[in-house]
Parts: sequence; structure tokens; C-alpha cells
Amino acid sequence: MTKKFYITTPIYYVNDVPHIGHAYTTIAADVLARYRRLQGYEVFFLTGTDEHGQKIQAAAQAKGEQPIELAQRMSRHFSQLWERLGISNDDFIRTTQTRHIEAVQTLFKTLYDKGDIYLGVYEDWYCVPDETFWTESQLGEDKKCPECGRPTVRIKEENYFFRLSRYQQPLLDYIEANPDFILPRSRRNEVLSFIRGGLRDLSITRQYNVVQWGIPVPPEVEPATDNRQPVTHTIYVWLDALTNYLTAAGYPNDNERLQKFWPADVHLMSKDILRFHAVYWPAFLLSAGLPLPKKVVVHGWWTVEGRKMSKSLGNAIDPHSLIDLYGVDALRYFLLREAPFGGDGDFSQRALIDRINRDLANDLGNLLQRTLSMVNKYYQGVIPSPGAELPTDTVLSGTAGRILAETDGLLNELAFGKQLINIWELINQANRYIAEQEPWTLFKNANLERLSRVLYSILEVLKITVILIYPFMPTTAEEIWRQLGIKDSPADQTLEFVWGGLKPGARINQGRALFKKIEG
Ligand code: MSP
Repeated sequence: MTKKFYITTPIYYVNDVPHIGHAYTTIAADVLARYRRLQGYEVFFLTGTDEHGQKIQAAAQAKGEQPIELAQRMSRHFSQLWERLGISNDDFIRTTQTRHIEAVQTLFKTLYDKGDIYLGVYEDWYCVPDETFWTESQLGEDKKCPECGRPTVRIKEENYFFRLSRYQQPLLDYIEANPDFILPRSRRNEVLSFIRGGLRDLSITRQYNVVQWGIPVPPEVEPATDNRQPVTHTIYVWLDALTNYLTAAGYPNDNERLQKFWPADVHLMSKDILRFHAVYWPAFLLSAGLPLPKKVVVHGWWTVEGRKMSKSLGNAIDPHSLIDLYGVDALRYFLLREAPFGGDGDFSQRALIDRINRDLANDLGNLLQRTLSMVNKYYQGVIPSPGAELPTDTVLSGTAGRILAETDGLLNELAFGKQLINIWELINQANRYIAEQEPWTLFKNANLERLSRVLYSILEVLKITVILIYPFMPTTAEEIWRQLGIKDSPADQTLEFVWGGLKPGARINQGRALFKKIEG
């Protein structure tokens, strides 16, 4: 039976258009999804949009439109950007879809039937932009949100509460028994100390008179009492949003699908929303008697010139403008190469241009260009039958083999930067090999036995490089593949070691340069 791999991104808020922070998470998830497909997994890759709640209600009001209109428009911005970025998601969930509303109400009812939901009064603070409840003691004098620094508001509402306190010990036990549940480890320690600090019950609704733009508490829990106002509470947007991971896996109606895909293998996000995924979400699932996700993985945070990216600071980087200037694959490559996974990355156009010129145009682009030119010149565009392999040649196959063997371990840690460094080690070894072997001298001396082996070895490196870079740069990989004269797609290959598979006699198709150098 093929193994499954279920990976998710956060579902993004529709109050605004996407920036490179959102693009980064989605590209990272895409790279992992594509690698797992090459490894033979049946992949389910989910992304989507988070459309309810006070923040969206307020954003729509400010723009003078209905929340659903704003959601439609913005959701399309996200899905169109993912299409442009070559994201291979298998589903795109929107929390306003009927399938999701049904899932959220069913989950709410399940927690209620379990005895984990009760009616109480919430009187404390709320951060609307983060959709987060804060207690007085968590805030400083200025009452700013400790997470985002924006002002919070005081609210007093009669709300339903979830008995989060009941799950303090079970959560600690689970996290301690599963050291890889929260990655990287430093994040896990933060979560543990947060839980050890004591979990208070969590408000999981908002009063309808304040937040109408949400999923109603199901009628089984709160029967309609008044025709003008059919419900008195809407479900808290985080309980609503987190449930998307279950909805797309078939909950509550498609049990077969749920059995197959749930639990998720990886929930990917950055540190800003870890607590929701590593504390609240597992607690809801424990209450519902559902298995917990296998891994919650936190990646680094992008800043721009050292500052948080935001609309209000006017420094949010628009992925479209970068794609227009540099192309999709250069952007995908840069984002994953530049930020050490888990650490923070600072965005600068200079760094992006340097990477394009050095790594892409020079190291990779030139390797392909020079090699194919030599095949054209010395062998009229036909891949030669290789002469005997000498010890100096095996260094290339040795490096390729090592990199392929290290791939799975690096992917498990989502160490994309390290994987790219490895791949570039192979590319640059091939560049050095050309300089050392001097194919032009071999040709001049009519040493065709040697020349054929040298060129064949470099072509093999290129072929393996294509498979290794395909998850990061699918379009470039297809293009190199085409220029190498190979018919099928890199997507149909496996990650198994395939040194020596190139067919002598096949005709290459030298084409355009892969990446143009950027001046300036
Ligand atoms: N809607 C919630 C998530 C619900 S998931 C059940 C939300 N949405 S969001 O639009 O604010 O997206 C937050 C996520 O976007 C982060 O966790 C991260 O994945 C990504 N990023 C947004 N800005 C980012 C950076 N500056 N740097 C890196 N990733 C960032 O929270």
C-alpha cells in the first residue's frame, strides 16, 4: 500500500492581499509535497483562506462591502498567486464553504456532548488583528497585544467556554512522549513552558451582537429563540479555522477518507500562530477523540530591512512584482535558500539579485549551457556512448549518491537551505571537473574515449540535478530536462539513485539560457 502524506499551510486571512511571508510558507509546503511525491507517497497538500471573524467583519465594513464580497475577492488573490507560483496544492479550502460549516458545527457539538463546553462570562481583553483573547495579567500598562504590539480592546460577553484546563496534563504527556511533535525543539520548549504556566478555559464563541460574521453555534446546543436573531453566538474564528484541516480530510461525513488521511503529517506555519496549533488544536482533538497531528513545524519569520512586514508600515513585499522582475523559480529558490529554516530571514533585493547571478545564472545556468555546447560541437548534439570510468570520475557519482541519501533526513527537518547547499555542491563539483578535465584539450588531442566519458559524467550530474531541484524549481527542472532531450517529465521520476541512466544516442535540444544575469 502506498504511504500517504498530508501537509497543510495555515489558511490565510482575507482582510488583505498576500505578501512574501504567506508565499514563503506555501512554497515551503509545496517543496515538501513535491519531494514526497517523488518518494512515492500519496500526497494530500492543503491550503486555503480563513474568512470569518471580527477582523474580516471590520475590514469589510471599512471598505464598505459585505464580508462575503471581500472574502471572495481576497480568496481569489491567494488562489491566483498560488497558481502563478506553481503551487501543487490538491485542495483549496474556504471557511465559508458548506462542507466546512458542517464540520465546525459537528465538532462543536461533539465537544459539547463530551461535557467540555459550558456557558460563562468572558470579561477581559481581545486583540482583533490576531483574533486572540488576553488576560489582564498578560498585558502591560499600555494594553498592547503582547504578540503583535497593536492595541487590544476590552470586552465583556456571555460566551461558551471550552474546558481547556482539563487538557493541561494530557497535553504535557503527549508533547513529552512525542519529542518530534513540535519542531524545531526550541519551539517545543516554549510550548511546554506555556502549558506548565497553567491553562485557563478558553472562550470559543463571540456574542452575535458583536460578531455576526461567523459560523452559528449549532441549534442542538443553542436552539433559536427569536426569529429576528436566530442565534446569539457565533463560533470563535480560531476554532472555526483550525477545523479546516479536518474538513478537507473528509470530516464529518467521509469516514473512509478521514481514516486514510487523518492525522495530518505536517502542519506548517510560523511562530506567530504556534500556540493555536500546538495547544488549542490538540486539546480540541483530544476532546473529540480524534488522533493528533504528527508534526507541527515552525519556520522562520521574514522581515524587511530588519522590520516586521505590514501594510501599515507600507513595506509588505508583493510577490507579483518580484515574479515580474525575476521569475517564479528565482523567487522560490531565493526564499528557501536564504532563510535558514527555523531562523529568521531578512529580505533584500540585493541578496536576491546576488543569488540569481551567482547560483542560478552562473553555477547552474552556465553548467548546462557549456555542457550542451560541447555536446553540440564535439558530438553533433548526440549524447556519446561513454568510455571507461576512471577514479577521477567517480567523485561525481559519489557526491550525487551521498546527496540523494541525505535528502530524506533533511526533508524530515525541513532543512531546505541545507538541501540546496548540497545540490549546489554537486553542481560546482561538476564545474570544477570541467575545468580539471579540459574537454576542449581532450578534443584537440582526439582523445575521444576520455572525452565521451567526461561529457557523459557531466550530463549525468545535470540529470540528477534536475530531479533534486524539481521540487524547488519545477519549471526550470522541466526546461533542463527538455534541453537534455529526455522525453518524460521530472515529476514522473523517483528519488532512487539512477546514475548511468542517460541513453547514449539521444539527441539534445540546446535552448535558451535558464537565467539571465541581472545588472545593477
Ligand atoms: N488565519 C490565521 C491562520 C489560521 S490556520 C488554522 C492566520 N492567517 S495569516 O494570514 O495571518 O497568516 C499567518 C501565516 O502566514 C504565518 O503563520 C506564516 O505561515 C505566514 N506568514 C505571514 N507573514 C510572515 C512573515 N513575515 N514571515 C514568514 N511567514 C509569515 O494567522
